Amino acid sequence: MFKFCSVAAAALLVGWSATAQQAPFGIGHKITDAQIAPWNIDIRGDDGAGLPPGRGTVAAGEKLYVQQCASCHGEFGEGNGRWPELMGGRGTLTHDDPRKTIGSYWPWAPTVFDYVRRTMPFAAPQSLSDDETYSIVAYLLHLNDLLPADASLDAKALAAVRMPNRDGFIVGDPRPDVRAVPCMKDCKKGEIEILSDLAKSLGVTPNQRPKD
Ligand code: HEC
Repeated sequence: MFKFCSVAAAALLVGWSATAQQAPFGIGHKITDAQIAPWNIDIRGDDGAGLPPGRGTVAAGEKLYVQQCASCHGEFGEGNGRWPELMGGRGTLTHDDPRKTIGSYWPWAPTVFDYVRRTMPFAAPQSLSDDETYSIVAYLLHLNDLLPADASLDAKALAAVRMPNRDGFIVGDPRPDVRAVPCMKDCKKGEIEILSDLAKSLGVTPNQRPKD
């Protein structure tokens, strides 16, 4: 078995070095921009970078929402049974029983577009066109009193929507212990003493290793 393995490994190495000039391992090819495009659909929350061109309206969104979303999320976003609710909850985040919805909790409106286009409807993700997504998001923002009933929505207007909980997230971890500067070299001055009997018996503590 060992012999077989080493023969196989040697053959691999020879194969690799022969084509190493072209590409490591001589397999695969460079990915093109066109191949990346369908995967590169993320949208940045704070400024909406990555939002596609297109436009929708609250009115069109209501129709689409009723057809494709209401069965789970309720006709007005109130949530059907145990499916998540998509409206309300504002002012409850500091209560014992906070209601976290896109309206009460999510800090950035473009994230709603990103999420809906990427994942919903639950059984057919990424089936909505960009215009349809703008319309549905407009309707969802309307349900949360963030857009009037006659509003239309495009990339610029969506990035300009100020979500109620925008300032509710703290950037950075405020705990003092995470700010300690890690020591990477000569950290322990003086002799190292191994305290645990188990560690002594195992002999794996670094200063027990033979010097090389
Ligand atoms: C078959 C049921 C179903 C349908 C239909 C459906 N959803 Fe959902 N939706 C879910 C489930 C389940 C989740 C929670 C997923 C999770 O947390 O991983 C969810 C989560 C969401 C959320 C995030 C809620 C939050 O606060 O985290 C949004 C926004 C949303 N859906 C929008 C939509 C829209 C818009 C449509 C229609 C285009 C739609 N959904 C259709 C089941 C559904």
